[in-house]
Amino acid sequence: MRGILKDQELPEVHMPSKPIEKVLKGQKALVTGADSGIGRGVAIALGHAGADVVVNYHKGEEAAEEVVEAIKQTGCKNVFAHQADVSQEDQVIAMYEKMFQEFGTIDILVSNAGLQQDAPLEEMTLAKWNLVIGVNLTGQFLCCREAVKEFKRRGVNKEVSCAAGKLICMSSVHQEIPWAGHVNYAASKGGIKMLMESISQEVAPHRIRVNSIAPGAIKTPINKEAWDTPEAYNQLMELIPYNRIGEPDDIGRAAVWLASDDSDYVNGITLFVDGGMTLYPGFTQNG
Ligand code: BGC
Repeated sequence: MRGILKDQELPEVHMPSKPIEKVLKGQKALVTGADSGIGRGVAIALGHAGADVVVNYHKGEEAAEEVVEAIKQTGCKNVFAHQADVSQEDQVIAMYEKMFQEFGTIDILVSNAGLQQDAPLEEMTLAKWNLVIGVNLTGQFLCCREAVKEFKRRGVNKEVSCAAGKLICMSSVHQEIPWAGHVNYAASKGGIKMLMESISQEVAPHRIRVNSIAPGAIKTPINKEAWDTPEAYNQLMELIPYNRIGEPDDIGRAAVWLASDDSDYVNGITLFVDGGMTLYPGFTQNG
């Protein structure tokens, strides 16, 4: 543990003082994998920002309905949950059809659904490889493709936004940081970097903005074993110069900014929201 900070009783949980402003009023958003973790935090933040939201989930129906209720609490009336496995083309297309029936169009996609299936290389089965690449990479490709079709069809609606649409890909610090025992996951996130940048280059002339968020360690079920005991948490802090774990709301606020016209001149970037994890803290006193 970073002794210098441990003694100062820093707040463990981030508590932003400012409510989220309604900068996305009337915009139609789809968040994939929104029934838990980062997706849940993003969907609720977009609701606070005034967007209408589709809460996509694969297996967590009850949890997705709870997210719908939480979003309704923000004053949002247009919100519903939709089941789809983002790695399946027909299910993705059907999800967009449903969204267009309900909301008419899409302004914001947060392509977030992702999972881990960890194993040392020799034990990494093809099934584990394919599942992670299928959801984390192919799923983002399919969801981005369908959103771009609609953005191009509709073009800019100045009443709503300066841009014809916004794609936000959920990446990870592991698009940069190699991760032993997680080669499928790291490869999927490295793929997201080039997927996002290449789409951005292709569609920017249509006033479509494409960016990624690369979260570090965020307190969610996906990495529970990295934070749910004091020993694990202290070990994790060795990797985080800012000395606290991230909260889904940290990512939610970043997504609201990237989706809003406040970031209108931001194209093809990866916004690292990681408490400094990518600063290679292992080198603080070494090297
Ligand atoms: C992974 C988490 C991990 C974090 C930092 C994320 O992309 O899903 O399990 O804690 O990166 O290593």
